[in-house]
Amino acid sequence: MVGWGGERPTIQQVQQCYLPRILTAERVTPYIGLLGGRPLAYAQSYVALGAGDGWWEDETDPGVRGIDQSIADPELLGQGLGTRLVGALVDLLFSDSQVSRIQTDPAPHNLRAIRCYEKAGFRRIRTIVTPDGPALYMLRDRPVEVSSTSHRSCG
Ligand SMILES: CC(C)(COP(=O)(O)OP(=O)(O)OC[C@H]1O[C@@H](n2cnc3c(N)ncnc32)[C@H](O)[C@@H]1OP(=O)(O)O)[C@@H](O)C(=O)NCCC(=O)NCCS
Repeated sequence: MVGWGGERPTIQQVQQCYLPRILTAERVTPYIGLLGGRPLAYAQSYVALGAGDGWWEDETDPGVRGIDQSIADPELLGQGLGTRLVGALVDLLFSDSQVSRIQTDPAPHNLRAIRCYEKAGFRRIRTIVTPDGPALYMLRDRPVEVSSTSHRSCG
């Protein structure tokens, strides 16, 4: 993946990674986050199991999804919008009952992203080494579903 650490990718790098046929082959779902109807950010989710190319090789749970996102305009960083975006994406993914956990893997030095994920309910698990380099593995578990039943006594 390119561009997640804040560096600006070339158009060739974008085409290599994000053309629809490539995203489909890698089981990546792309999203555009909107703010007041205007494009704010690119985000994506992926199925961790079977990602290939050295990614998530220890994963055995088909319900794990991963997320990444990037706000386009640097002037909009640090205003809470990323936290709202991550929250909305998490809610969307958990609306699928098959999704058990959501993971993310910011670079250990990306303190703003780490704080954003923590505010959105992710917890730090451990530092890992991915094909892109060291990363902080973070998880958010599926919320426990509370059901209510009414008990009536007879007589
Ligand atoms: C990561 C990203 C989506 C977060 O969105 P955002 O709108 O900037 O984040 P938020 O404003 O919601 O939250 C950022 C938090 O980090 C804090 N923060 C900012 N810089 C920080 C730093 N150097 N150290 C520690 N915390 C920092 C902010 O104060 C804020 O926390 P607070 O509300 O408790 O004060 C956005 O910064 C982005 O697009 N970055 C470039 C791409 C990227 O890194 N993507 C993540 C790849 S995993």
